Order: sequence, then C-alpha cells, then structure tokens
Amino acid sequence: MLDDIERILFHEQTLLSRLDELAREITASYRGQELTVVAVLNGSLIFAADLLRRIPLPLRLDCLRVASYHGGTESTGTVTFHQLTMPDVRGRHVLLLDDILDSGRTLHAICARLRGENPASIRVCVLLRKAKSRAAELDADFVGFEIGDEFVIGYGLDYAEHYRNLPFVGVLRREVFETPLPG
Ligand code: IMP
Ligand code: MG
Repeated sequence: MLDDIERILFHEQTLLSRLDELAREITASYRGQELTVVAVLNGSLIFAADLLRRIPLPLRLDCLRVASYHGGTESTGTVTFHQLTMPDVRGRHVLLLDDILDSGRTLHAICARLRGENPASIRVCVLLRKAKSRAAELDADFVGFEIGDEFVIGYGLDYAEHYRNLPFVGVLRREVFETPLPG
C-alpha cells in the first residue's frame, strides 16, 4: 500500500495540530449554541472522530451516507442519498463535515436537501479544499488545509474504497489510477 504513494502532503502530527486550531475556531463560533454535526460518510469518518473530540461543546452527531458518482477521479454531479429520511435538523445549527471540497457538487446537493428541513443555520467544514474553480456554488466556512488540484488519499479519503486507513494524507502514484485495483 505504501508503495502506491508518490508523496506525503500532511503527516499525522500536522493533521492533528491543525485540528486543534480548527476545533478552537469552531468552538469559539458556536459558543452558547447547541451544535448539530452532520458527518458525510465514509470520507469524513476519521476526520470527524478526531475533530469532534476536540470540541468541548454540547453537540449532536448525525451521519449521512451519499454516493457521488465518479468518472475516474472526478465527480460527475450525480448524488444519491442512501437514507430514506434526513436527520432531524429543524431549528438546529448544523455543521456539515466532509473530507474534501472538490467540485462542490456533493456538498451543494447535501446543503440543498438539509435546507429543506429548515435548520436555523448551516455551515460547512472540510479537512481539505482544492484550489480550483468549482462547478457548484458552494464554499466551506471552516477549512483544514488548502491543496492543489490533485488526487489525494488517506486519513479517510479513498481511491476506489482503498487507502482510507492511512494515517497521513498523500498523493497517489499516477500508475495506480492507470492499473485496475485487485479485488
Ligand atoms: P465533489 O462533489 O467534486 O466536491 O467531490 C466530493 C467527493 O469526491 C468527496 O467527498 C470525496 O469523497 C471525493 N473526492 C474528491 N476529490 C478527491 C480526492 O482528491 N481524493 C479522494 N476523494 C476525493
Ligand atoms: Mg470518496
């Protein structure tokens, strides 16, 4: 698995130090309010686990499972919701957590669905934001790191459901996209 990595962008310690800061920012802006975190699975699982343990506020946690269809390493904009009902966010302050803001289509579709449930507010937090122009009009309110427009894996992020368990964020070697994964 490690042979597939071209280079490491953020080591575990770098990720965790940044989460300390991000958690402080989030805690300061929601002080006195009850927060409802909606984590988008599977990508935000590890990020959410580490971030939320650093936020000393009363909060609720809901998870959403969506599939955003990818043609290779680009999302196509078709987002399918895997649950029949959305989390109960009426009148709540929602913080939507995802691994990465790429085209923005996935988070845009999720925000549109959540808005239909009449929350008091919705803000978006991502671990990574790609520097590029976005297909969907959506930006994140809290961002861990800005990265270039390249395909990254690890710390929850996958390529074809692999590499989520790597403790760092790295760039995959190009040959990996070009050869089919076993299994
Ligand atoms: P978007 O709809 O294009 O913003 O893509 C959002 C989803 O695509 C993310 O939640 C990720 O699951 C996936 N994605 C986008 N870029 C990457 C990447 O560089 N590595 C791994 N997954 C990615
Ligand atoms: Mg993914």
